Amino acid sequence: MITVLYPGSFDPFHLGHLDVIEQSVALFGEVVVGVMHNPTKPSGMFTLDERVEMIRNSIAYMPPVKVIAFGGLAVDAAREVAAAFIVKGLRTGGDFEVEQQMAHTNHAVSGVRTVYLPCKPALVSISSRFIREIAHYGGDVSALVPPPVAAQLSRVHPRDEVF
Ligand code: PNS
Repeated sequence: MITVLYPGSFDPFHLGHLDVIEQSVALFGEVVVGVMHNPTKPSGMFTLDERVEMIRNSIAYMPPVKVIAFGGLAVDAAREVAAAFIVKGLRTGGDFEVEQQMAHTNHAVSGVRTVYLPCKPALVSISSRFIREIAHYGGDVSALVPPPVAAQLSRVHPRDEVF
């Protein structure tokens, strides 16, 4: 059994993220989901604790998955949970550009390697940003997120700064 870290901002967690976790469990055995801050993104729709709770409720059927909030670097989270690799999902070519830079940088500073997993073709268009936008205007996002996230999003109060 190999432990891997799946870091992300998950604001909110969606079916593309769930696909990466399911693939990671099948390939490696044990997955730690690290809910982290992305400095390039705005303050966020949900707090880190709210995101952790929604993800825990969404992956409850997969016992080899743990969910933690982590305030520092992804490579420090990987070391703390003794992860052999970082895993990341790739949806678009744009994702690849960004992920490649992060993977090289993370390896240069820590020696930790990143493994990319391609997202299911049916899920490549899902993005947390569009989910926030649709939910903000009261739209139905239940086709894009697990039921616990859809329930939480239906309770969201419109705020201007969420996307
Ligand atoms: O889901 P996202 O927003 O694409 O995830 C990006 C995330 C949170 C994984 C990335 O911003 C990150 O690793 N943040 C922690 C800080 C860090 O390790 N920075 C160094 C990047 S080389």
